[in-house]
Amino acid sequence: MDRGPQVIAGSLADENARLYEEAQRQHRWLQASGEVTTSLLSGTDPRQVLAAVTAQVHELSGADLVVVALPEKGGRRITITSAVGDGADGVVGLVLPADRSLPGQVLATGQPVTITDYSADPRSAEAARDLMGHIGPKMIFPLGVPGNVLGVLSVGRRRGGPPFAAAAADVIASFAAQAGVALELAARRSDAERLSLYEDRDRIARDLHDLVIQRLYATGMALEGTVSMIVVPEVASRVRNAVDAMDETIKDIRATIFALQARAEDPAARLRSEIVDIVDEMAVMLGFAPALRLGQGLDGRVSPEAAEYLLTALREALSNAARHAQATAVEVSIEVDTAGLLTLRVTDDGTGIPAGVHRSGLRNLAQRAGSLGGVLELGPAGGPGGHGTALVWRVLASA
Ligand SMILES: Nc1ncnc2c1ncn2[C@@H]1O[C@H](COP(=O)(O)OP(=O)(O)OP(=O)(O)O)[C@@H](O)[C@H]1O
Ligand SMILES: [Mg+2]
Repeated sequence: MDRGPQVIAGSLADENARLYEEAQRQHRWLQASGEVTTSLLSGTDPRQVLAAVTAQVHELSGADLVVVALPEKGGRRITITSAVGDGADGVVGLVLPADRSLPGQVLATGQPVTITDYSADPRSAEAARDLMGHIGPKMIFPLGVPGNVLGVLSVGRRRGGPPFAAAAADVIASFAAQAGVALELAARRSDAERLSLYEDRDRIARDLHDLVIQRLYATGMALEGTVSMIVVPEVASRVRNAVDAMDETIKDIRATIFALQARAEDPAARLRSEIVDIVDEMAVMLGFAPALRLGQGLDGRVSPEAAEYLLTALREALSNAARHAQATAVEVSIEVDTAGLLTLRVTDDGTGIPAGVHRSGLRNLAQRAGSLGGVLELGPAGGPGGHGTALVWRVLASA
């Protein structure tokens, strides 16, 4: 039977509306992609751009949770640097092992991974699965192109939600690839800037050494040679003083040259990697890997003394959990809040600290916290059955 003209017109209108919507969506993705590239190339902090990327993908993809994770220096660990959506607050800062997690796999292969039910997928890292147990369908995309993957972007939907359509996945994948390329360009540019800064410093150091010091030295020698010819004792002693002052100046300039040639290491990155190293090391004693969360405030606001005490406190807390608690799980979180308080929290699901027991390591921790304007608090972890210990060590980060 023939279809009526109205029916054809109706389905045409539907089709047009669908095509229009599709074109609109494509346009918005392209726009978002352009914005990312522009802001990265105009020098905006890449971390800030990635936070914006996460929010854009959340808005455009119809995902319930969007997460961006970047490898730590050395590549053994991956940190969730930004997240938007359901449960986002709980996962930011989570540090995952690269070799036993899905983001690690995507990072290594450059190939996206599709997961039907994340909450039940044995390939995911346990710590991540615990915190994202509400997520079912999930896709993880490389940021960048195979062979040059800078991080990963993942989109997830609540358990029971529909999987991501192939067309939508393609769009997100190309967005992620492009964001990665822009990130790479930004990183190269900042490397080049750093290199040219170093070249300038080297040139200044060389000039100071070859020209300034040599001339001061020659002048000092010449003056010294004249001292024996001076008959007025007072004048001779003044010249000798001037020669001594020149020697001091030469020493100062040498110190400056040394400082110019030193390559400053980022103290925040060093602290992060030292924390990760201690957690890795203590995993052997514990018999399992603790879950680790590093808050964002950790970048650049911790004094060397607070950093040193923090590492000692972390080691002591983990050693206690390993030796006394008979725990099966330990969680570590470290962060600096906006008020400048550095907090280390170590919880275990073990026996708890017996009342009235003699304290030695813990007493040291309390004293050190006190010397940095802070406190040590010990209490039940509040897990199932009220078991375990929660140790909170809080100090002034800048103390
Ligand atoms: N996480 C924990 N779970 C269960 N018991 C704990 C825990 N931490 C400490 N304890 C108990 O508290 C006691 C005191 O701990 P503290 O760290 O002060 O000393 P220590 O570990 O025995 O000795 P040191 O720290 O000098 O090696 C421990 O002996 C242990 O009985
Ligand atoms: Mg101890």
